[in-house]
Amino acid sequence: MSALLITDIDTLVGTHPKNISVLKGGAMNTLPVINNAWILCEGGLITGFGSMDNLPADLPTSLTSISAKGGYVFPSWCDSHTHIVFAASREEEFVMKIKGKGYEEIAAAGGGILNSARKLQHESEDHLFESASIRLNDMIKQGTGAVEIKSGYGLTFDSELKMLRVIRRLKDAFKIPVKASFLAAHTFPEDYKKDRNGYIRLIIEQMLPGIANEGLADYMDVFCEKGFFSAEETDKLLEAGVKYGLPPKIHANQLSISGGVQVGVKHNAISVDHLEATDEDVINCLSTSNTIATLLPSCSLYLGIPFANARGLINANVPVALASDFNPGSTPSGNMNFVVSLGCIKLKMLPEEAINAATLNGAAAMQLSDVAGSIAIGKKANLFITRPMSSIAYLPYSFGQSQIEKIILNGEVN
Ligand code: NIG
Ligand code: FE
Repeated sequence: MSALLITDIDTLVGTHPKNISVLKGGAMNTLPVINNAWILCEGGLITGFGSMDNLPADLPTSLTSISAKGGYVFPSWCDSHTHIVFAASREEEFVMKIKGKGYEEIAAAGGGILNSARKLQHESEDHLFESASIRLNDMIKQGTGAVEIKSGYGLTFDSELKMLRVIRRLKDAFKIPVKASFLAAHTFPEDYKKDRNGYIRLIIEQMLPGIANEGLADYMDVFCEKGFFSAEETDKLLEAGVKYGLPPKIHANQLSISGGVQVGVKHNAISVDHLEATDEDVINCLSTSNTIATLLPSCSLYLGIPFANARGLINANVPVALASDFNPGSTPSGNMNFVVSLGCIKLKMLPEEAINAATLNGAAAMQLSDVAGSIAIGKKANLFITRPMSSIAYLPYSFGQSQIEKIILNGEVN
């Protein structure tokens, strides 16, 4: 692997000191940059960067050199919440939504997650891998360089493990870090609607040991929500997950104040995600914890539900991350550029805050602070180069437009 030197960078973005792994409060608005910069990548890692005035003379002999042509260089987006392994799209529900049906109504009518689970049962592992690979490649082209992927459309022992094996194959096949979350507690399968404890036992007594045995998951996820899993059920599931070495990263407060945030924090969740519904108790609970609040504004936009209170969370010193939630039901899009734009437009985050939330804090929400999320020596050289821009704010300002010119993965032009 030859070294890669990128020169003529108008602005190198996100050169945070290496000891900073997560940002909160006023610090979320701090986005260090180097103007007129270069960056050197060797062995897949960032090994040097600085101002063009100090470009070193002793560069590696085997070197590919490219010019950023006056563009910006960013650390790749870290998308810490996705569901990109699924069997089929659900545009029939899209039309139902246009006609006025709500998310819960569609789910209660056998649509929603159960619809995806039905479609996944007979889908082959190869097929799931191929379709998820297409989605992941699309996301990479849009600047994503680290991703978390959930199970949760299996809902049976075999199908949940099938999904997690697909995620493991994605981990092996792609050049970007991939983390897996186990989300059998996404909804109650039809057969267990009247035997909720039976399904919870199935997850705890059979699925979790099976997954732990094959080392298939990094995190335990639960959809803690009215009509799905209660706070008490979530408590039980998270406790079991922790016993099997899976820290929580959960869906909480998407449609209502569910108690999920408090339960997540109780079990030291890495992140609690969604939070479209918050109150003072939720914000207070998070502000005294180490849990990251991961907000998913594309989901709010698509479902027409409220946008999360990012300002309230940031003001209360809660670290906020932004992620896509790419899934066939509530967010059929994995475009992190658009997520960052929505963070600014709808969550009223400043461009610097939104970019930090989608890079450094996104990496922290996947426990990838050592390898991703900023421009620092020793981190993975997953970057993107933009067109020349008039300022950092131009990126989220030009919503729905791509400013990305080149993707660098592991220090190689992709
Ligand atoms: O994050 N809320 C739960 N899970 C997904 C939606 C799943 C689906 O509708 O298929 C979400 O929005
Ligand atoms: Fe989700």
